Amino acid sequence: MKNINPTQTKAWKALEAHFAANKDRQLSELFAADPARFDKFSTTYKDNILVDYSKNLITDETLALLFDLAHEVDLRSAIDAMFNGEKINQTEGRAVLHTALRNRSNRPVLVDGKDVMPEVNAVLAKIKTFCDSVISGEWKGYTGKAIQHVVNIGIGGSDLGPVMITEALRPFKNHLQMHFVSNVDGTHIAETLKNVDPETTLFLVASKTFTTQETMTNALSARDWFVNIAGDQAHVAKHFAALSTNTKAVAEFGIDTANMFEFWDWVGGRYSSWSAIGMPIALSLGFENFEALLEGAFEMDTHFATTTYEQNIPVLLALIGLWYNNFYEAESEAILPYDQYMHRFAAYFQQGNMESNGKYVDRNGNKVDYQTGPIIWGEPGTNGQHAFYQLIHQGTKLIPCDFLAPAITHNPIGDHHPKLLANFFAQTEALAFGKSKEAVEAEFLAAGKTLEQVKNLVPFKVFEGNRPTNSILFKQMTPKTLGALIAMYEHKIFVQGIIWNIFSFDQWGVELGKQLANKILPELNSDAAVTSHDSSTNGLINTWKAWKA
Ligand code: F6P
Repeated sequence: MKNINPTQTKAWKALEAHFAANKDRQLSELFAADPARFDKFSTTYKDNILVDYSKNLITDETLALLFDLAHEVDLRSAIDAMFNGEKINQTEGRAVLHTALRNRSNRPVLVDGKDVMPEVNAVLAKIKTFCDSVISGEWKGYTGKAIQHVVNIGIGGSDLGPVMITEALRPFKNHLQMHFVSNVDGTHIAETLKNVDPETTLFLVASKTFTTQETMTNALSARDWFVNIAGDQAHVAKHFAALSTNTKAVAEFGIDTANMFEFWDWVGGRYSSWSAIGMPIALSLGFENFEALLEGAFEMDTHFATTTYEQNIPVLLALIGLWYNNFYEAESEAILPYDQYMHRFAAYFQQGNMESNGKYVDRNGNKVDYQTGPIIWGEPGTNGQHAFYQLIHQGTKLIPCDFLAPAITHNPIGDHHPKLLANFFAQTEALAFGKSKEAVEAEFLAAGKTLEQVKNLVPFKVFEGNRPTNSILFKQMTPKTLGALIAMYEHKIFVQGIIWNIFSFDQWGVELGKQLANKILPELNSDAAVTSHDSSTNGLINTWKAWKA
């Protein structure tokens, strides 16, 4: 990988000049000037996913310069390095191979000279056998009953992906009732345990490291609850399985390593749904659907690795995002799925993106002098429209948005779906083209308002427009389509990280809080007043101690 400051490239300088000359261009002008703009700036992936990026503040020249930037930082070598198992996660000395987990071609992928595919396939086969036996009812609990409830205990990447995916693919789910416990707040496990029966519940302890405080605390509480009712530690074997890279810690916890589903240090937590961490997905949807998810991601991987930048969807989305982030100084991006089943999609990519690219130190160890990863946020449409879209339409911040929706709903009730999609299309149109002063005035006058009233109200009713969006319309939400969409965003994040010259696959920024919490915990258990911190932290801790009694 070339570790160069992107702002020092020729392409960046050219982009700066291009931005200065074009920053006031309006989407309305761009569309008026080119009737073929949609055809030019949209692409259909496998006759299944339409990505319309025409409502962006870009021209042919913008894209050409952005492609120059990708070439100049040698994105191509970085893509090859990732897919070929090079240790591109340099601060942890690890390869980055979530793509190997879904490598349906079985092309050998070498890490330290060893092909990882046999191990990947062996774990997949083990997951399949386990899932089939739990789903069919062959796997029995300690009283001989089949499993009805699955409780996944994990946090971050060991939770968000399985939650998001099982929710997005709910129409494909079987009879197993899924529960997800992540928060160390005892309320989360307590409320979950109220709804499950120990005789028919399978707990999955999902943790790459098997040391994460939240997960281990919840897992111990779940095990205590279970053993307390089941009456015998030996019954744990039928009711607890582990999804982890840490065999030793799993055995120490008391889980039979026969019930451990392994993955490897070259799988990042937030990229781990394709690994054994995907067990809840395979249990909830059946192994075939899990495989279809992998297949969808694999196809997107192939598209990403082999398509020229001009047609490459993750590359296009990454470059356009970078254009706003670094030139228009947009600080955030909204992900707005018009699909209720995708209600955790934005939350999932909050971790995917912000934990990957929220870095201020470049790959040379220097503080960057340019912006890196954006703030990611969003909620499903149309709920967001009645909450925060006001700011997107008329606020002072530029917020590029991705709109996503299925063409075909899994729930064709009356005219719900056309109404939902009418809102999707209307919002992207309104954001792009707004409503002019003249149009507002004409509307008021037609409604019988006086000239004075019109004059007073017009400023508030004008929509400037020129707010950029991508529209991602897919035929129907299926495991394969979801796999492709997730991989698309994963690679977008990768491309941006490469250009920003940061390491996207570590997450040192989460460590300090963990260390301090470990230091504070014993202080909370002692009676002595705490004086070892700053006055605010001491004050908070001591007030808590006084109040908890
Ligand atoms: O604290 C951040 C993090 O390390 C994430 O990257 C990860 O997904 C999460 O914690 C959970 O980690 P583990 O799977 O090791 O429990």
